[in-house]
Amino acid sequence: MKSFLQDVNLGLGKKNKKLSSKWFYDFHGSKIFEQITRLKEYYPTRTEIKILKDNKIEIAKRIGKSAVLIEPGAGDIKKIGIFLSSLDEPKKYIPLDISEDYITKISKGFRKKYPKVAITPKGYDFSKNNKLPFKINSSENVTIFFPGSTIGNFDSKDAVKFLKKLKSKFKAKKIIVGVDLIKDIPTLISAYNDKKGITAKFNKNILKRINTELGGDINLNYYKHLAIYNKSKKRIEMRLKSIKKNNIKINGSKYLIKKNEEIHTENSHKYTVKSFKKLANQAGWKIGKTWVDDKKLFSVHCLDLSS
Ligand code: AVJ
Repeated sequence: MKSFLQDVNLGLGKKNKKLSSKWFYDFHGSKIFEQITRLKEYYPTRTEIKILKDNKIEIAKRIGKSAVLIEPGAGDIKKIGIFLSSLDEPKKYIPLDISEDYITKISKGFRKKYPKVAITPKGYDFSKNNKLPFKINSSENVTIFFPGSTIGNFDSKDAVKFLKKLKSKFKAKKIIVGVDLIKDIPTLISAYNDKKGITAKFNKNILKRINTELGGDINLNYYKHLAIYNKSKKRIEMRLKSIKKNNIKINGSKYLIKKNEEIHTENSHKYTVKSFKKLANQAGWKIGKTWVDDKKLFSVHCLDLSS
């Protein structure tokens, strides 16, 4: 995978080393993420599922008839099923994921369950500007389903760009988006630093991939998983911290890693309902409706075009 190698070389060549969180998700990484979603500490998935279940009728009404549903970064595609049967004659469901293997395999069982909906999974990296792997007719009722607070991986500037792109390129009329909320710091941190060490394994999967796919020689034992909350930027940051000085060789390139040096691997931005509204408005969307759970842990918004 050429872009993976380029990205890794670019990121490790920087003074503040970083690797993009999108490289967590090969087949194995997607499996580990699935385990994360079931952890006691990881509240977002279960909270969002409850919000979707409690409000599926209203969500379906807002989406309307003959929907063409597109889900960027669909992962295990468990959430769309919550309201799919409540929709009025949905036409198509197009799950997109960076791991083509994973999304193809996961989608198989789904087809049997919803024989009337055309289900066409595609491998697609939504963080890039690649041509869409399907055709859209601008007259169609295109609804983007973007749950899980995946939008939190973008900083606010890129999030605005992405929301604009959903309108211009994907021809979206509506977006159902899940957004994690700002809350007390211990709750936030333990969601990204679980006792069983599953998130640590997930974080290190990026190093494992560098070794197996790019011929790297990283000793995984030299790196420690770190999750901190950046108060001013309102985000969880995941990093891999080296516990001793070491060299990394990757396909001809060499990097010196100092003791205690950190490689940044992921940002997960948190919002208030108000701060997310501001972001959506900047991208030319208006918030039609917001649903929040009782404990105010997580939010789901329906965005409409503000014509
Ligand atoms: C899939 C990006 C929403 O930020 O909570 C979970 C990824 N990283 N644990 C998140 C993640 C560590 C997750 N998103």
